[in-house]
Amino acid sequence: MDPSPETEKQLAAVAAAELVEDGMEVGLGTGSTVVHLLPAIAERGLEIRCVATSVATENQARDLGMPIEDFDELKRLDIAIDGTDQVSPERWLVKGGGAAHTREKIVAAAADRFIVIADSSKPVDRIVAPIPLELHAFGLESTLERLRSELGEVELRRVPRSPDNGVIADYLGEVADPAELAVRLSATPGVVDHGLFPPAMVAEVIIARGAEIERL
Ligand code: A5P
Repeated sequence: MDPSPETEKQLAAVAAAELVEDGMEVGLGTGSTVVHLLPAIAERGLEIRCVATSVATENQARDLGMPIEDFDELKRLDIAIDGTDQVSPERWLVKGGGAAHTREKIVAAAADRFIVIADSSKPVDRIVAPIPLELHAFGLESTLERLRSELGEVELRRVPRSPDNGVIADYLGEVADPAELAVRLSATPGVVDHGLFPPAMVAEVIIARGAEIERL
């Protein structure tokens, strides 16, 4: 019998945990795949320093006895490991299904190596909406109007604000070219950040397919 998606998440997480070495400074992502990563790292008993991309990850890590530090204490990270909602053949990612993409992108950008872990449902032929957005609360209606008239439909997500007081929404329009859309979203005043992560940011994607591990 093929492993379930949950087993695939665990396999990918365990493979990524093996990349963590003693003395490293480690960025920890967010989501149901990362939930498997934390115990896999913790049980190795390494001396590491960690930053978390969400309160949920921070709480789980602390419960496992993993030290979580303020990000300001660690300017650079050796490695960051996180899940994804979509990964294209070119290694464009869509992240933010758990609304943590802004912090996740900051942590990924600070890492020498950003490793993505995924079950076999995450690879896609091409990136499609929804693309998660975090928007400034200030001027929200005006930002929404600008996005809708210049880019495409945007819907507010019924979730709490981010830990940085950002409003979470989703871009629902066409994604003809992820690079172009990423530039246009980033250039829109009021957009804090979006869930498109460029291939240049990604060092490796570890995908579990059944019992096999595939590395992109
Ligand atoms: C959190 O905001 C997201 O970016 C997650 O990393 C992404 O949604 C993957 O989540 P799962 O591991 O739960 O699929």
